[in-house]
Amino acid sequence: MNNKLTIALSKGRIFKDTLPLLNTMGIEAVDDPETSRKLILDTNKPEVKLVILRASDVPTYVGYGAADVGVAGKDVLMEYAGDSLYEPLDLQIAKCKMMVAGPVNYKPGNGRLRIATKYVESARRYYAEQGKQVEIIKLYGSMELAPIVGLTDLIVDLVDTGNTLKANGLEPMEHIADISSRLIVNKASMKMKNETIKQFLSAMTDAVSNA
Ligand code: ATP
Ligand code: PRP
Repeated sequence: MNNKLTIALSKGRIFKDTLPLLNTMGIEAVDDPETSRKLILDTNKPEVKLVILRASDVPTYVGYGAADVGVAGKDVLMEYAGDSLYEPLDLQIAKCKMMVAGPVNYKPGNGRLRIATKYVESARRYYAEQGKQVEIIKLYGSMELAPIVGLTDLIVDLVDTGNTLKANGLEPMEHIADISSRLIVNKASMKMKNETIKQFLSAMTDAVSNA
């Protein structure tokens, strides 16, 4: 049986929130990605390795089978077009909401709305479902700035406490989706390493329900 397993994670929130689940499953990282420059981390189990990626690259690595499994936010998965992934488990971590937000007391004008977002596909689908014609401007961060400086009318972004919006004179307006992180599995790995992945999935399911 091929029992080697490569797990794709991103630094920061996802690593921090996934680690306790892995620990419950008996998997401990040897290095801390926040302090180590290594991108491949060994674990206490010689057959299990962690690869540390940008959050938005996790589905790509798992989709192409460069990692067998990974942890990715639903926001990132909603933007990912590939069909070579299974998404078998909601890990109930890194929870937030994808929302439309805008200036406090915003009043829509007559023209076509301009929306700034990192989540172009999700925003496009959301407004298409509403039958609204909008212009979507792709940004890579600091979305909150766009309405303040007049780049766009509104933004589509993630909201948790609402503090970031509030600090910038914005408020949540419309709910698009509830977000949490999901375990994703490469479809070919699921076939080729079925026993290993089934065991991993079952242990992770138990870890989530005991968290
Ligand atoms: P990248 O490095 O690719 O730009 P990022 O900076 O968005 O990604 P993180 O900030 O670590 O990466 O967020 C990782 C995931 O955590 C997001 O994809 C989302 O699912 C979730 N998330 C983001 N912001 C929050 C938040 N404020 N509260 C809870 N979960 C969040
Ligand atoms: C995320 C998101 C929002 C903020 C929302 O940013 O992009 O800006 O959290 O959280 P809040 O409603 O609790 O304020 P994050 O803190 O991850 O920073 P970054 O993605 O810009 O690195």
